[in-house]
Amino acid sequence: MTCHLLIPAAGSGKRMGGDRNKLLLPLLGKPILQWTLEAALKSESIDWVGLLCQPHDREPFKQIIGQILEQSNTSKSIALIQGGETRQDSVYNGLQALPDHAIYVLIHDGARCLATPDLFDRCAEAVKIYSGLIAAVPVKDTIKIVENGIVIDTPNRDRLWAAQTPQGFHVAPLKAAHIKGRTQQLSVTDDAALFEHIGLPVQIVDGEETNLKITTPQDLSIAEFILQNRY
Ligand code: CTP
Ligand code: MG
Repeated sequence: MTCHLLIPAAGSGKRMGGDRNKLLLPLLGKPILQWTLEAALKSESIDWVGLLCQPHDREPFKQIIGQILEQSNTSKSIALIQGGETRQDSVYNGLQALPDHAIYVLIHDGARCLATPDLFDRCAEAVKIYSGLIAAVPVKDTIKIVENGIVIDTPNRDRLWAAQTPQGFHVAPLKAAHIKGRTQQLSVTDDAALFEHIGLPVQIVDGEETNLKITTPQDLSIAEFILQNRY
């Protein structure tokens, strides 16, 4: 049984500081989004991708998809789905657009273009066992809770993990979690938080230290360095 994959790619990239979606920026000669899609499609466990997209990005996204399908001669399908105002809204739209037979879904940020096919494979295998999971790595820094510039707490680092994507879920409970989140007007930055909110367990899968989310211009230079030194 293969997995369906949703890629939220409908942001605007404000923190990147440009005037268009950061996922269209070039990274070593090809758009960030193309790196993400190529890695995901190399995973044999994924045969359907739903790409969340704003209307003004449809044409450039179509071009990227066309290029990938031409190069790889794959029978996998990539569907463009209208994104929402927030990432949470985008994923919600993606869940509504999944084919009826979808049982397992992975969700992976378009901005995490360094995730390897191995990581997708690990998550796709694990989601058959666990109804909710996240790729994550142990936190290395000491984390402080701060209010108005003053540290108010230092949580024990042994229990802190940095959440990444892919995150994987069984479709039915994830849909229920999203619907409840909307009803209660919860605003979250990942899907696992909605799953946790309805009391369902979320399993940790080993993530990758290099799986960074391209957010600022500096991240682009770091990503370039990582890719140039890979393989
Ligand atoms: N995303 C989305 N729909 C939105 C907002 C974000 O699908 N309405 C996607 C982004 O395209 C990205 C992922 O969610 O792949 C993670 O979001 P983030 O890194 O915050 O990207 P942006 O929202 O584009 O960046 P910023 O917050 O700096 O504007
Ligand atoms: Mg954002």
